[in-house]
Amino acid sequence: MTTTSTDVGDALEQSGSDSSYNRSLARSNEIQTRIAQEPDAFRMLTGDRPTGNLHIGHYFGSLANRVRLQEAGVETFLVIADYQVITDRDGVGPIRERVFSLLADYLAAGIDPERTTIFTHSAIPALNQLMLPFLSLVTDAELRRNPTVKSEMDLTGDRPMSALMLTYPVHQAADILFCKANLVPVGKDQLPHLEQSRVIARRFDERYGRVIDDQPVFPAPEALLSSSGTILGLDGFKMSKSRGNVIELGMTAAQTAKLLKRAVTDSDRFITYDPANRPEVSNLVNMAALSTDQDPGAVAEQIGDGGGGGLKKLVTEAVNEKFSEHRALRNELVADHDHLVDVLRRGNQRANEVADDTLGDVRRAMQMTYSD
Ligand code: TRP
Repeated sequence: MTTTSTDVGDALEQSGSDSSYNRSLARSNEIQTRIAQEPDAFRMLTGDRPTGNLHIGHYFGSLANRVRLQEAGVETFLVIADYQVITDRDGVGPIRERVFSLLADYLAAGIDPERTTIFTHSAIPALNQLMLPFLSLVTDAELRRNPTVKSEMDLTGDRPMSALMLTYPVHQAADILFCKANLVPVGKDQLPHLEQSRVIARRFDERYGRVIDDQPVFPAPEALLSSSGTILGLDGFKMSKSRGNVIELGMTAAQTAKLLKRAVTDSDRFITYDPANRPEVSNLVNMAALSTDQDPGAVAEQIGDGGGGGLKKLVTEAVNEKFSEHRALRNELVADHDHLVDVLRRGNQRANEVADDTLGDVRRAMQMTYSD
C-alpha cells in the first residue's frame, strides 16, 4: 500500500470536519451544474436500509431528490440494503414486508423501474464478492476510526460489535462500486464512508493497475450533498419511529391529522419562521412550505396571528394534499403484490448483469481468470 493507514485515517476523520465539509459542498455545487448540462456523464447509486416505513422526512430529504435526478436523465441505481440491517440488530424485524413497503414508496414517489435499477443487495452475489478484495485494501485500525462506525457503535450501546458492523463501510463501498457509480447523494454524516469508497477505488487502481484501456477499474465516486435541512419530528426531536413523531408516507389523511393535532407548538399566537428560537413552530411551517413548494417565510406570514391552531390546520391540509396521490398509488401497488415482485426480480436481474461484468473486470485486473 502506498498510503499509510495513519494518513488515510486522518483523511477519513477530516472528512467530517467543517473545512472539509465546505470543500465537499463547493464541489457538490459544481457537480449540480454539470448534471444539468451533461446528465448522462453520471451514474448514481443510493439506497436505504429496510428498517421501517419511509416517512415525509425521507421524502423531502432524499426521495424527492432521487426522482429529480432520474427525471434529469441521470442513470440511477437504488439499493435496498437488506444485508446492512443485520450489522447492528439482533433481529431484523419483518424484513420481507419492509422491503416491499420500501419498494411501494419508491414507485409511488415516481421512481421508474424502467430507468432506475432497484435491487436488494443480498440477491447480487458478485456485489458481495467484491467485499473480499476490498477488505484486503483497508486496515482494521482505519475502520475502527471511521466516524460512521463509531456512531453506529454508540447506537448499539455497549454490546459487543459484530465484525460485519466494523466492515460495513467496505460493504457499502461494494454497493457503490459494483456499478461503477460516480455520484452518491448523501447527508453530511455519510461523507466519511464515501471517502472510504474513494480510498478503496484508488488503492485498487494502485495495487492492480489499469487493465482496461488504461482506465481505473473503478471511478472515484463523488458526493452530492442534500440541501434541504432536516425535518424534525412532531415533538421537535429527531424523527424516530419509536417516538411516534413521524408522518409515514403510507399513513391516511385522518392519521396524519390526528398526529399533527398532537404536534408541539408554543404560546406565541403570532406565527413566524424562526428555526433558532422557535424550532417546533418553524418545523411545522417548513413542512407546509415544502409540501406546497413555497418559501417558509411566506407560509408564516399567511398564518399571521392564527396561532398553533391555524398553523396545524394549514400544515395538515398541505401535507394531505401533497401526499394524496402518493398514498392512492401506494395502496394500489401494495394490493398488487405480484407486480412488486416482478419489479424487484427485474431490478435484481439487471443489477446481477452489471455486478458480473464488474467482477469480471476485477478478476482480470487481479489475474484471477482461469478459463482460457
Ligand atoms: N447506509 C445507508 C442508510 O443508512 C444505506 C446504504 C447502503 C447506502 N448502501 C449504500 C447509501 C450506498 C448510499 C450508498 O440508509
